[in-house]
Amino acid sequence: MSNQVDVREREAQGRPSPARVAESLLRRSTLRPTLGLVLGSGFDKVMAACTEVMCTPFTSLPGFPRPGVAGHAGKLVLGYMARVPVVILSGRGHYYEGHSMESVAFPVRVLAHLGVKALLLTCAAGGISGRFKPGDYMRFSDHINFMGVNPLRGWVSPEWPRFVDMTTTYDPDLNKLLEKAAKRAKARLHSGVYLAVCGPAYETPAEIRAFDRLGADAVGMSTVPEAVAARQAGLRVAALACITNFAAGRNKKAISHAEVLSTGAAGAATASRFIEEFVRLYAAG
Ligand code: HPA
Repeated sequence: MSNQVDVREREAQGRPSPARVAESLLRRSTLRPTLGLVLGSGFDKVMAACTEVMCTPFTSLPGFPRPGVAGHAGKLVLGYMARVPVVILSGRGHYYEGHSMESVAFPVRVLAHLGVKALLLTCAAGGISGRFKPGDYMRFSDHINFMGVNPLRGWVSPEWPRFVDMTTTYDPDLNKLLEKAAKRAKARLHSGVYLAVCGPAYETPAEIRAFDRLGADAVGMSTVPEAVAARQAGLRVAALACITNFAAGRNKKAISHAEVLSTGAAGAATASRFIEEFVRLYAAG
């Protein structure tokens, strides 16, 4: 079937195939995940709520980016959360690290081949909206891809569309589950538009004012490539950002990676509860 075409084509090009990587993972475990989670900055402690069945570092998975950022472990975990079979990507590769867009999107394509039907992406973001303060959360109502590149450029598996509709990127039903989960976890949740930049420099205040006028509520350096690749593969997608700092110029403070990490760490318990409740609601729905 078309998977075979994909595998042969990729191998002929000397490139790893997401279908092949998924096959090898499925051979090593009987667990069949229905939900995928990508844990970004500030969300890694969510792992504690997962009963691990199998853990594989990105470094031993062909095609996976090797994450180089402090706070991003880089492992794929098959396990159970709230009794739901899940696959978790703890850590991710970023475009600013020098990875190609193809490699940034590769793990999500593997998740699709593992049979996952829905995907929750998480990340840290700077708050642009005056409604947001550090420690709040924002679920994506939509996004603006300001990275100047698209992960769907280039190779496409024959079973996936070349041109992908992005009218409803973030699934309304999953968004409702995030709303409910936030209440249960007592997390302050907003809904808003995430604007993705390449980074790794933080933005200037002029850029943030411009992004505000474009309709962005928060800014970050990830998530959008994965959301786009997931939609191409037909997955239902939700995305959740922890607002770790005021975006540039929104207050007098300089922005640092240390602040991003420390706000994330301070909210770790809430983040874990939030994600666990989301998974529980997903299983019930
Ligand atoms: N800008 C871009 N990416 C980010 C920020 C920010 O202010 N905070 C966390 N990730």
